[in-house]
Amino acid sequence: MDKIRVIGGRPLSGSVAVGGAKNAALPAMAASLLTQDRIELENVPRVRDILTMRNLLRDMGSRAEVSDDGTAVLQSSDIRSREAPYELVKTMRASILVLGPLLGRFKSARVSLPGGCAIGARPVNLHLMGLEKMGAECEIVHGYVEASVEKLRGARILMDTVTVTGTENIMMAATLAEGETILENAACEPEVSDLADMLRSMGARIEGDGCRTIRITGVGALHGCRHRIIPDRIEAGTFAIAAAITRGDVEIERCNPNHLAAVLEQLRRVGADVDSGKDRFRVRCGGTILSENVTTYPYPAFPTDMQAQYMALMTQGDGDSIITETIFENRFMHALELVRMGADITLEGRQALVRGNGPLSGARVLASDLRASASLVLAALVARGETWIDRVYHLDRGYDRIEEKLARLGAGIERVR
Ligand code: EPZ
Repeated sequence: MDKIRVIGGRPLSGSVAVGGAKNAALPAMAASLLTQDRIELENVPRVRDILTMRNLLRDMGSRAEVSDDGTAVLQSSDIRSREAPYELVKTMRASILVLGPLLGRFKSARVSLPGGCAIGARPVNLHLMGLEKMGAECEIVHGYVEASVEKLRGARILMDTVTVTGTENIMMAATLAEGETILENAACEPEVSDLADMLRSMGARIEGDGCRTIRITGVGALHGCRHRIIPDRIEAGTFAIAAAITRGDVEIERCNPNHLAAVLEQLRRVGADVDSGKDRFRVRCGGTILSENVTTYPYPAFPTDMQAQYMALMTQGDGDSIITETIFENRFMHALELVRMGADITLEGRQALVRGNGPLSGARVLASDLRASASLVLAALVARGETWIDRVYHLDRGYDRIEEKLARLGAGIERVR
């Protein structure tokens, strides 16, 4: 098991390029099931979840190659299995994204229920509600969703909760349904719009993505395409907080600052200088970090995937701040590890009270989920002495060699195999 060792106290400086968005590449790979033609993706990040999706598609009989240069070639001219097995799904919940495409093109699917994870129960009831509204029969048998349909029909679907992968699953299925689907209270995340762009380049008819109501008019078949994945706004935000917490000066490149406007605005509120360009932004932070409250909400508000990283920053704040997590019911696991590094954090339901109390001290800590791991790395960058982070496989699910990128910015960080 790899570990990450950090010696804290060094301000970061220099520039870092952001990779492709994991949460855009995963639905894009699943979308390749919607056509028999070849799909080429560019700017695919080299992270573990991408390889898990690749393996899932291969197990189904698809051709799926992901190269080190960030290109992926996918083709599901025909498939031999319409099943996403428990062994794979339990390691990556996003496997549920094959359900909509399989139903849309192959009319049946057997997908293991993802089950919960460290941050919450993670139900998929709204995915199933939407597909059932389109005529599918979905049954839960032995922990699997067994779904089938003669032909999906367009429907009017109102989502009780904003769900990113729920919106993506239904949007993909609707591209091959009979007639029009109106999806209300849809997710507006940039990754949803990126998927819609890709589907349109495959011949799909989709309008309104990026807003709360998406209209999809079904077509007979979709064809291949070449699509470039958008930059990862969460990786960009993670480096922005790394610059602020170490009182550094970092240029974050090859990203889209508009995709993380709420994060950059919050960094300005806590006293960082943030200058944005078209595909880059610069974060400088001299002295005091102000303690400012934040609440996570669906896009375009402050993203839940940046909450853990922001909590690490607030441990360095000049007073008290309250962080409210409205998306997931158990996304404070990182708080307990930050406390072991000397942070003063009190948890109360969906709220965390963070008392900025000066320097943290290095310790042995344990990563519990992807963004919690990032939070511990950020805290270690500013802690006194040495920090060891165990279970870094969580980190590798969503970050491509983050320790190398941080080391190039001057951090005292290394991976110990
Ligand atoms: C996506 O997960 C992301 N994953 C998550 O990123 C991200 O944290 C999350 O959206 C919120 O932005 C991918 O895109 C692969 P949701 P998803 O469905 O789609 C409830 C990371 O760190 N809900 O938007 O699974 C659910 O319980 C990961 O990269 C239902 O009740 O999240 C939650 O409270 C972590 N029923 C809320 O909606 C459903 O059928 C939002 O979840 C579906 C969801």
